[in-house]
Amino acid sequence: MVWGGLIARYGDRMAISKTVEPVTLHEGNTPLIPAPRLGAEIGVELYLKYEGLNPTGSFKDRGMTTAMTQAVADGAKTVICASTGNTAASAAAYAARAGLQCAVLIPDGKIALGKLAGALAYGARVIAIQGSFDDALRMVRDASEQSPIALVNSVNPARLEGQKTAAWEVKEQLGATPDWLCLPVGNAGNISAYWLGFCEDEGAKPRLLGAQAAGAAPIVLGHVVENPETMATAIRIGNPARWKQAEAAVSESNGHILAVTDDEIFAAYRKLAMSEGVFCEPSSAAGVAGLIKRSKETPNDFHGQKVVCVLTGHGLKDPDSAVKGIAAPETIESNVDALLKCLEKGSQ
Ligand code: F0G
Repeated sequence: MVWGGLIARYGDRMAISKTVEPVTLHEGNTPLIPAPRLGAEIGVELYLKYEGLNPTGSFKDRGMTTAMTQAVADGAKTVICASTGNTAASAAAYAARAGLQCAVLIPDGKIALGKLAGALAYGARVIAIQGSFDDALRMVRDASEQSPIALVNSVNPARLEGQKTAAWEVKEQLGATPDWLCLPVGNAGNISAYWLGFCEDEGAKPRLLGAQAAGAAPIVLGHVVENPETMATAIRIGNPARWKQAEAAVSESNGHILAVTDDEIFAAYRKLAMSEGVFCEPSSAAGVAGLIKRSKETPNDFHGQKVVCVLTGHGLKDPDSAVKGIAAPETIESNVDALLKCLEKGSQ
């Protein structure tokens, strides 16, 4: 089968307009990679849904093909979003593809370099605000109500119509429903979309394990976090738009939502790269950090189970986090003696 993107593949199961050609970069169809080494350590049969391999490097592309197609069908000329980075890059790319203007609001100084680079490269108007993601989201919601600008954040139902397809891909690739699906939670659009996908499908559903960063864990704490703080900047969110929907999904699935510290997130992030060869961005590792933590708290719930962790974004999105705390490359003279001496030193 020639892959033509998510609307070509699943359009008949999406509640979006079919009156225009899909705006697509052939997103979706990302690999589900077995992670036997890490799985054995945790005591589960582990798979990684590597969403970093979408066209702009994150799962956001799944929802952007549908949101942008709907915006074109609705006659929009300009789209807008608030973002911790990935939505911005994705919206910018799909707007470029559709020939629409795009403005993105980001929290000043709090987005990873690869995401900023993407948004700028695709030609979006990038506006940094002196405030948080939550402030930016409030601003773009108001702006889209007061002017004919289409909002492409995940409060837009067309976003979930695209993102829910990941649930169906996971089941197809695994040939079964996983027992657990673990993922990071920020604005709570993705966990809501997965649950929608599983519920619209026949058969068994997984239990959901959502992970928030400890400094930005409003759902776990049960109250808005005014000044969210975490090194996992993608999920630095204190008042998720789909809070209630996420809570319902977790409870209906008989799942759990927990907070993981930045140290736990970074430990999982390094482990994924070094013991499985899968490089994701720090926030993406929160689901794995959550799995490691929760499987120690309630081992009987996890032992021997089929577990899928969603790795939401590519590691190259955040090059600064990748090199932080790791020794710089060694520099040697350009001759083989120097090379052999260096290798010998390393193997001692
Ligand atoms: N992982 C990554 C890499 C993200 O970029 C996000 C959200 C999430 C997880 C959480 O997903 O918000 O649906 O619960 N990023 C948004 C953005 C907020 O603006 O790019 P969620």
